[in-house]
Amino acid sequence: MSEIRICGYRPLSGEIKIQGSKNGVLPMLAASVLQRGTLKFTNVPIIQDVICMVGILESIGCKCQLEGNCLKVDGAEVKDIQIPREYVGKMRSSILVMGALLGREGRAVTWHPGGCSIGSRPVDLHLKAFRQLGARIKEEEGRIEARAKELSGSEISFPFPSVGATENALLAAVLAKGETVILGAAMEPEIMSLCRLLNQMGARIQGIGSPVLRIQGVDELYGTEFNVPGDRIAAGTYLLAAAAAGGRAKLLDAPWEEMQAVVGVLRRLGAKVEPLGAEGSSGAGAAGMEIKMDGRPRPICLSTGPYPGFPTDLQSPLLSVLALAEGVSTVEETVFEARFKTVGELRKMGAGIEVSGRRAIVSGKDHLTGASVKAWDLRGGAALVAAALAARGETRISDCIYIERGYEDICRDILCVNGDIRWIGS
Ligand code: EPZ
Repeated sequence: MSEIRICGYRPLSGEIKIQGSKNGVLPMLAASVLQRGTLKFTNVPIIQDVICMVGILESIGCKCQLEGNCLKVDGAEVKDIQIPREYVGKMRSSILVMGALLGREGRAVTWHPGGCSIGSRPVDLHLKAFRQLGARIKEEEGRIEARAKELSGSEISFPFPSVGATENALLAAVLAKGETVILGAAMEPEIMSLCRLLNQMGARIQGIGSPVLRIQGVDELYGTEFNVPGDRIAAGTYLLAAAAAGGRAKLLDAPWEEMQAVVGVLRRLGAKVEPLGAEGSSGAGAAGMEIKMDGRPRPICLSTGPYPGFPTDLQSPLLSVLALAEGVSTVEETVFEARFKTVGELRKMGAGIEVSGRRAIVSGKDHLTGASVKAWDLRGGAALVAAALAARGETRISDCIYIERGYEDICRDILCVNGDIRWIGS
């Protein structure tokens, strides 16, 4: 398994070009199954999850061509409706191809993706949406089959704003007969960019950015070109790394407007964060952002939440910052039931964190110490990088394969801001 070695306790300085959004591009790639032309995506992040999604698309008959950060998907020949099991185990968002296959072919087969270290992560709301659109669902020993002679528009109401279930409902509804209304839809920027793509392909979706999405089904969708927006979670990770290690960093192509909850928290921690090259104070049209951080972070109390709240994906990197704060902080994790696995690794570096249920209580220390630690999940691994950049001495992070799922090259990016970091081993 690949390992990262970091010598910390050195302020950051420099600029990073933020990659395309992992959680934005994955549902968009699933959407390419809905059209029989060619979709051309630019600014695609070259990460394991994209490679995995390309594998799924090719296995069902799409032709994919990846050149640099440009990916073309030709959807003329979808022959198979079964998502290969080996991909399902690697990547939960394989489930998103189910909605697109159901929309295009009226049939789809996959497997329960199973849980991971952040929670059980069931797919009951995805299947509920398919049933409400008229699909018959058969579940047997982990295998899930969805069939529908014809999908008909319906009212789908989610008890809480599931990102994936909202995306799957959209992917199945855009070619259904009649109108679908999704109530309690997730409002993450990744949903908005998926809706913009689908409308550019010929879909008719209204209410983008609101919790009520109205979809008028159409007969056909077409190829188009689309630029993947900057990854707000990768950008937030690097903001928090700078808040932990101190110094200054410019993040080019970071999506300023989508990151206001994160910017607000960084300012509460004592950092200066401003938009780059923006007209007016709102930061509209910013080309990115800049962070400056001197001294120890201030303690804060915070709950994660669905957009526009503070994203659960930045909860672990935030713990790395609060571990150095001048006082006691509390963090409530309201989205996933088991997203504190990295706390045990941060403790090995001297962090004073106690977890009780969904709450972490962080007693800030004036320093952390390098140690040998392990990445248990994608964002937990990124949190260890942030902590190691602030810690005294050397940190070795093992099982970094998780980090490669979502960050193009975290060592390349941290080297751009003068961090002492390198990959070790294959
Ligand atoms: C997406 O996961 C993201 N992944 C996650 O990012 C992110 O943490 C999450 O949204 C929340 O923002 C991608 O976009 C590929 P959910 P998703 O459905 O769609 C429960 C990362 O690090 N739930 O909004 O799976 C679920 O168990 C990843 O980039 C059900 O109970 O998230 C969780 O507790 C991690 N039934 C909560 O809802 C369902 O049918 C939120 O899950 C679906 C979800």
